[in-house]
Amino acid sequence: MEREKNIEIHDTAFLTSTLRSLNEDLSHDSFAKLWRNSKSDIWIKKYLEQVSSEETNTHCLRNRYFLDTIKNLVEENDIEVVINFGCGFSMYPFLLDERLIHIEIDKPEIIDYKKSKIENWQKTNALPKRNLHFIAVDFSEDYEQALLSQISSIKENKPCFILIEGVLFFLDRKETDHLFNFFNAIQNPGDFIGSVSFQDTFKDSVAFKKLLNFLNQMVSKTKASDYQTIEDDYYRSQPVYHLIDHQDYFSLSKTYGNVICLEKEEILNENFYLLKKLS
Ligand SMILES: C[S@@+](CC[C@H](N)C(=O)[O-])C[C@H]1O[C@@H](n2cnc3c(N)ncnc32)[C@H](O)[C@@H]1O
Repeated sequence: MEREKNIEIHDTAFLTSTLRSLNEDLSHDSFAKLWRNSKSDIWIKKYLEQVSSEETNTHCLRNRYFLDTIKNLVEENDIEVVINFGCGFSMYPFLLDERLIHIEIDKPEIIDYKKSKIENWQKTNALPKRNLHFIAVDFSEDYEQALLSQISSIKENKPCFILIEGVLFFLDRKETDHLFNFFNAIQNPGDFIGSVSFQDTFKDSVAFKKLLNFLNQMVSKTKASDYQTIEDDYYRSQPVYHLIDHQDYFSLSKTYGNVICLEKEEILNENFYLLKKLS
């Protein structure tokens, strides 16, 4: 019964997928709806009412931006492997060219569940077959050596795109630095990172206060400092990486013709960064 009352951090992966399924025209994700269930539908309704009704479209545009970015890079023959750190239940492998290799990384409970659901959906042809590898890792633990050898054996020396979206908010700066150093260790010049985070000013917004309140009620008692925000300079000053694109909900809304309904203060405005490793 307790499990019914409270959501946990990894349940945020269900929420993210459900939000993407609510406006498929915008997200271009026709598979996110597979993850919907009665429990996540109830949480979504509360979330949209109590935090921000704009959250459907912020999540749909985030998906669309990375989907289109990766598609363009594949078309240009710039990448052959997509590595998704904190993949949750996102469905990029099934929305992208079948020749890509995918490495999906998340906590063991997410990976075990995702792997078994996907295998079942592939058996019933609800999902197409893909070159897909699952790795269970907790970024708060000591993972570097084992993960490096697992990734190297799959990726070999192929050009890759690393995606980290919806994750850094839950990590601290030390864990984030470790991850970015790790990205550098596994990538070659010309490879890409797509990253998502909130800027520091986000914590002053009405939307963040509502989010914190929601998380405190539904997930666990936390304070603003438990959630990480990241300044643009963090990306600009990454050694050996060049920031080649920076978007947010407002700029993507213009690009994709999305009509924004709420005031700026009421919107959880995530920022999207695209980095390329220098030669
Ligand atoms: C909001 S969900 C986003 C999932 C996915 N990236 C997406 O956009 O659909 C956050 C994800 O980060 C993962 N995550 C959070 N902390 C983590 C950690 N310490 N190690 C590994 N994964 C973590 C969660 O398990 C969850 O799947």
